[in-house]
Amino acid sequence: MSTTVGGVGSDPASVLSSAPVPGRTFLICGLASLAGLMFGLDIGVIAGALDFIKRAFQADQRTQEWIVSIMMIGAAAGAAGAGTLSYKLGRKRSLLIGAVLFIAGAVLCAFAGSVAMLMVGRVILGLAIGIVAFTGPLYISEVAPPAWRGAMVSLYQLMVTIGIFAAFVSDSLLTASGNWRLMLGIIAIPGFAFLIAVLFLPESPRWFLLHGRTEEARLGMTALLGSRSQADREVKEIGDQLSVRQLGTTMFLRNANFRRSVALGVGLQMVQQLTGINVIMYYAPKIFGLAGFGAGASNWATAVVGLTNVLATLIAIGFADKWGRKPMLNVCFVIMAIGMAAVGLMLASGVHSDTGRYLLVAMVLLFIVGFAAAPGPLIWTLCSEIQPLQGRDFGMSVSTFTNWAANWLVGNTFLTLLSSLGQANTFWLFAALNASFIVFVIFLVPETKGVTLESIEHKLMQGEKLRSIGR
Ligand code: BGC
Repeated sequence: MSTTVGGVGSDPASVLSSAPVPGRTFLICGLASLAGLMFGLDIGVIAGALDFIKRAFQADQRTQEWIVSIMMIGAAAGAAGAGTLSYKLGRKRSLLIGAVLFIAGAVLCAFAGSVAMLMVGRVILGLAIGIVAFTGPLYISEVAPPAWRGAMVSLYQLMVTIGIFAAFVSDSLLTASGNWRLMLGIIAIPGFAFLIAVLFLPESPRWFLLHGRTEEARLGMTALLGSRSQADREVKEIGDQLSVRQLGTTMFLRNANFRRSVALGVGLQMVQQLTGINVIMYYAPKIFGLAGFGAGASNWATAVVGLTNVLATLIAIGFADKWGRKPMLNVCFVIMAIGMAAVGLMLASGVHSDTGRYLLVAMVLLFIVGFAAAPGPLIWTLCSEIQPLQGRDFGMSVSTFTNWAANWLVGNTFLTLLSSLGQANTFWLFAALNASFIVFVIFLVPETKGVTLESIEHKLMQGEKLRSIGR
């Protein structure tokens, strides 16, 4: 098998020739993808609640930035520990811990009597996100039948955006009551449903193999694939893969070519966050407020942002393997730069009419379409494709950590930027950054569409320019 990340080896022939996949397997993948939903809910929920929290605690601008962004510190810590946790305790138990933390964090936020307690709740939610965002896709890629793996991992990504959207809608419905405690606390309910769902999940056969429990792995795999002979083949293939030792740190210290792919992963994730996507995800109602929308209208406009994010993600899922990563990224960075520049322009000249306000929402939506149709999902794909097999765990942990760190930076500085640089300049800054990322894509990013991971690794290790390690 040529190793495709997330096993996107959707070879129709293999679907036809294999035994029918038991419905139970799809149910398992569907239940596990609720991990993505929880992740999205917790990313999205703060946007509509922030203004009410500000009033309840008389929180100044810096405090608000911290309330938003401290979750990412928890997420970075959770992501850093998730590898060890899911190796030692297993995928299922790690997801269970994540689910319990989701519930605990939501309840703590709902009953927070002080900003400090709210922040503790947000850190706990961050830990849950860090663990689950690592373990969820890993588990799905391990239990999904090979021919369906790509689609199932995409389903997870889609669930993240659906979670964000659902949180925006729930915030909007609760805006009239101003009940921010309910906004944050209600997420304990899907958290509880997720906990129950995880209880029904079987442990991943790959984890059994990692711990030398071959017979359990074989049994689990047979149940998932519906055929003993196919299960034997899979178990053998995984066994072969596991014989490749992970050399992460040693390889990083000794191999300059590996350092290049790690640096590219870091660069890609910084680019993704510096687009300013989470400025919109966390602060959209505030931005709409700047243009004169009331609280209710701002939160509903934010819900439309969430829906657009879901729908445009389908473009990336449908076309990345046809059009290629680089053209899609470049077109989308142009779209995003235009969206951000237009928002800046409108805020500079002042938005005085309803038409102006709708136009501003339209420009934010343009930006979102650009993000969701390419850098949103594709940067994650690229980060997993560019790392050599023996350094994949290390390379992906470093880039994922960077994602959270840069996410924190953006969330922690946006309001300060608005008040120090000015509203228009802040959006122009993001417009300029998005435009400059085209240069990054042209000179540094490889085109990995339809290329095997073996070939990418070979070229990387031969010292080819980064932009040439793909096609
Ligand atoms: C990013 C997140 C962002 C989300 C929005 C993801 O690809 O990593 O930071 O909140 O997209 O859909």
